[in-house]
Amino acid sequence: MRIIAFYSPKGGVGKTAAAVNVAYLASQDNCRTLLWDLDPQGASSFYLAGAETVKGRKLSKLLEGKAPMARFIHDDVYPGLDFIPAHTSFRNF
Ligand SMILES: Nc1ncnc2c1ncn2[C@@H]1O[C@H](COP(=O)(O)OP(=O)(O)OP(=O)(O)O)[C@@H](O)[C@H]1O
Ligand SMILES: [Mg+2]
Repeated sequence: MRIIAFYSPKGGVGKTAAAVNVAYLASQDNCRTLLWDLDPQGASSFYLAGAETVKGRKLSKLLEGKAPMARFIHDDVYPGLDFIPAHTSFRNF
């Protein structure tokens, strides 16, 4: 398994657009792909129309390793592309 993260302290430089597009292209290239939107702004969740941000589910439990990841995954965004939407609790990172 490979993990790719897009990070820059500079705003508006294309982190979210790159993450969403690379994830989509990887999934179309037969790499099973999970995109996890760790930005509390939820821009990736906005790009992937239809994938609503998680409401009422305790993603903090997932981050603490106390809840199974599968419970939070949307697997119906695109074939081969799984997605975990953003959550406002990520502000506390
Ligand atoms: N390669 C690109 N060419 C042209 N425009 C782009 C490209 N990548 C992103 N953009 C545009 O630039 C703007 C900012 O992109 P994006 O939201 O991905 O940046 P970001 O780094 O995630 O921003 P933020 O710091 O707010 O999270 C958006 O309008 C996006 O459509
Ligand atoms: Mg962004």
